[in-house]
Amino acid sequence: MTIQEIRENYWLLAGKHYAYTLALSDTGNLINPYWGQVLPSQNDYPKPAIFTAASSFDSEYEIMPEEFPLREKMKFTDPCLLVNFENGTRDTAFAFTNAQISQNRLVILLTDPAQHFEISLNYQIYEDEDTIKKWVVLKNNGTQTIHFDRIFSANITLPHPAEYSLTHLYGQWNHEFNKETSKIPYGKLVLESRRLTSSHQHSPAILLHPPETNEYYGRSYFCILGWSGNWKISVEKNSFGLTRAAVGINDFDFYWPLAPGAEFTTPPVYSGVAQHGFHEVSRRLHTLVRSHLVPHPTLDKKVLYNSWEATQFDVTITGQKKLAQIAAEIGVELFVLDDGWFSGRHSDQAGLGDWWPDQAKFPNGLKELSDWVQALGMDFGLWIEPEMVNPDSDLYRQHPNWILHYPDRQRTLARNQSILDLTNPQVQAYLHEYLTKVITETGVDFIKWDMNRNISEAGISANGNHSAKQVWVQYTHSVYRLWDQLRQRFPHIIFQTCSGGGGRSDYGMLTRADQVWISDNTDPTERLSIQEGFSLFYPASVMESWVTDSGAAVQDLDYRFLVSMMGVLGIGADISRWNEQQKQTARTWIERYKQLRPIIQHGTQYRLLSARDAGYAAVQYLDSLKQQGVIFYVRSTASQTASPPVIFPQGLDENAQYTLSDIDEQRSGVAWQQLGFRYALPRNYSGQMFTIRRI
Ligand code: GLA
Repeated sequence: MTIQEIRENYWLLAGKHYAYTLALSDTGNLINPYWGQVLPSQNDYPKPAIFTAASSFDSEYEIMPEEFPLREKMKFTDPCLLVNFENGTRDTAFAFTNAQISQNRLVILLTDPAQHFEISLNYQIYEDEDTIKKWVVLKNNGTQTIHFDRIFSANITLPHPAEYSLTHLYGQWNHEFNKETSKIPYGKLVLESRRLTSSHQHSPAILLHPPETNEYYGRSYFCILGWSGNWKISVEKNSFGLTRAAVGINDFDFYWPLAPGAEFTTPPVYSGVAQHGFHEVSRRLHTLVRSHLVPHPTLDKKVLYNSWEATQFDVTITGQKKLAQIAAEIGVELFVLDDGWFSGRHSDQAGLGDWWPDQAKFPNGLKELSDWVQALGMDFGLWIEPEMVNPDSDLYRQHPNWILHYPDRQRTLARNQSILDLTNPQVQAYLHEYLTKVITETGVDFIKWDMNRNISEAGISANGNHSAKQVWVQYTHSVYRLWDQLRQRFPHIIFQTCSGGGGRSDYGMLTRADQVWISDNTDPTERLSIQEGFSLFYPASVMESWVTDSGAAVQDLDYRFLVSMMGVLGIGADISRWNEQQKQTARTWIERYKQLRPIIQHGTQYRLLSARDAGYAAVQYLDSLKQQGVIFYVRSTASQTASPPVIFPQGLDENAQYTLSDIDEQRSGVAWQQLGFRYALPRNYSGQMFTIRRI
């Protein structure tokens, strides 16, 4: 049993190694008395403490590890709900009503009888990954609408008043997933997106940990939100030194009316604790994403070719056929036609919204190309950007008000495009019809779903019939709806999420997409740290990484392949310009990648040397049986006088014997791990791949 009521009103949620408890306090509040390693006996789990007010200025709630703080009594904890009842009351008064356990789920029901309002706190345990999924359902059982200005998904309270640091990923377009650690000050720290997507700026994911925690040592608590729209994580350390984090849909410009009888379900939060550094967090989250979130968990991701960087908008049937021919020759398995294929799309000025093949470029439709690609033994993929429209398009000319806008405000374009109001059922129906048509007529195996701008003028179109501040949530629900309809209709299609690179990479998307385009930045050296940051919360099996012409002047093909093989290998270079030798190099690496793919995509990843230090990077992958592994080791720009770093392999079976290719030695797992090894790379932008074999 992963969830049990071990005492009256005391619940134990246990994974393989870690436990979380919930209990009612003497005041009737739901609290979290324990969060840490599984304890040997049920008696070990601490009873709820008695909390007392420190003064008439600070009630007992200041020091109480409340599970879902609400606005009531004399409480200054930032509440998870902001609510207005019709009678003017803005406090809630919830009482515990019941708890239901079924298999690995727990639902705790709280009710506010005066307002006929209920909240259920939902928990699901992923035992192997030691992760708790939490989400909240609100229900209005009364006869009057309840008005919300905030609905968060979860709150976590760190066990002890102590000094903690926050680690998260920040960035911008072309420069995503930078890891940053900062000390949590007394006061509040907010990470958020107000851009309509989860954004390039911050990932909706945090680690909270003692300052000394590093890659392989120390404790961390993680919290990741599964939501692709505006979000907020606020971390607050109060004057008693207690640190909390509240996570959910952003309350910026948010309003939600809950009609009588209606329900609202928040997006989920995935949280847990780890004792052995950031690596342990990543390892467990990688498994969580691979085994429980993505639509096709066991799939080996294909080596793809994407023609975007080779042709940009200059798409022709002959040009694409030629690229496909070469791609097949070097071992590519999936050919993706990017932007530039649909009606009127000759530049980024026109065409978005008109989702049928451009007559001049594809006089016989797209089927001619997809047949060609499939005859070459590859799958066929297609780029779409359904949420967008260019003013220069048939769609916009017919329906200029189908976009998010305000009638009395100028419409701000970005990349010459506007955002369609997906909350409008007519817009949904239009997109569903045309996308279904092109997918069916073409025969598509893979879709790259892009979104190339952030919001301006967040007003709903004339046809919408809901309140304006609901747009943020309605929009995200609408993207999910359209996506899910297409997935249902075409279950074999593999989706990739992209928003100008990594602008919409989140656990909400990863329940729909199997792959992520993490950055438009394909310079291999810059990519190294983007990939490393991404790996904190997301597995290599979802991370597309292409070998392109970016940086090719000084960074040779071997180096570019080594960097791209750390994820789902792709090629984005103009291969029509490659000579025979380059093609042979690519063919060899692609072949080796296919052999190692099960380990890279489904094995355990270890960050051995950080790309942010000293000009070297090394990443290891090991299969689950610890039989085979691979280490990618590259030198970007290291000082000529510095000696090569020591690389310490990880995760090996300590007593087994292993060899590493290109290192003429056999050692026990523990010896490799304790002694490490050195390997001189003679020049900048060079690398080496070592295969690990158990003897
Ligand atoms: C975005 C994507 C790119 C490419 C272009 C096409 O920038 O991230 O990979 O698809 O759009 O316009």
